[in-house]
Amino acid sequence: MQLIHSVSELRQLISQKRSAGARIGFVPTMGALHQGHLSLVQLAQQRCDFVVVSVFVNPLQFGANEDFDIYPRTLGIDANLLSDHDVDVLFSPSPAEVYPASSPVKQLTAGAIGEKFEGESRPGHFDGMLTVVNRLFDIVEPDCVFFGQKDAQQVALVKQMLSEQISSGRRAPIELVVGETTRNESGLALSSRNKFLTAQDMPAALSLSKALFAGEKGSTRQQVLELARAEISPEAKLEYLELVDADSFEPTEPGLTRAALIVAAKVGEVRLIDNVYIDRKS
Ligand code: PAF
Repeated sequence: MQLIHSVSELRQLISQKRSAGARIGFVPTMGALHQGHLSLVQLAQQRCDFVVVSVFVNPLQFGANEDFDIYPRTLGIDANLLSDHDVDVLFSPSPAEVYPASSPVKQLTAGAIGEKFEGESRPGHFDGMLTVVNRLFDIVEPDCVFFGQKDAQQVALVKQMLSEQISSGRRAPIELVVGETTRNESGLALSSRNKFLTAQDMPAALSLSKALFAGEKGSTRQQVLELARAEISPEAKLEYLELVDADSFEPTEPGLTRAALIVAAKVGEVRLIDNVYIDRKS
């Protein structure tokens, strides 16, 4: 595996690989890698010839009172893990490489979908996320990108951004692949922030996935939400629990469109999100 910090070095290498006919896969991350990221790496390796994983803790997607300063940074461990999994390149740029002072990077706005749910709790988060994802796509120019379902609203926004850019001819086609959420044996969705959960927080943290699994059995919107709500621990400070269309994030009924049952809650000091897709047609 090659560890690359510079945009120009990465571009040169990818351009050589592309000229040799390689299909380029890209897994963007903020590091502190866990099995969920590795499952995306595996998907990328199955579908692509050359796999680039980025580790960049993007300051633009953190609010002033959020956990940017304490977000886990474990580059050495991440590099060993990716090397053990035969990743071709770990791209770990500095903020100055991603956002060079000499040529300002295009700032994106996430629009209506970006203002709901996660966007309401974390104003500006999705603008910062789309800005860095767009910039990373410009740098890597991948054929295929891999995102985890756990961040379902992020997935909807990246899908919308790509569809607008590709249909207007501003970007060459990129296939977006969504990897299923990886869970521990108790059902907790893996997240880099789980390391901040204490043993005491665990029952409340687990109540989120229990709620989703109970809710998905409901056949009407009301039933889905009631079944889910009944499982949420009183120790979890619920921020939202909703059944939405997985693309528009508008409230929906199960069976009408591909739906996502989404939840966010604060457990102890940790803000957790999770979701399940409910696709009654398939
Ligand atoms: O999902 C994440 O880890 C981040 O939002 C991403 C896509 C790497 C952009 O910083």
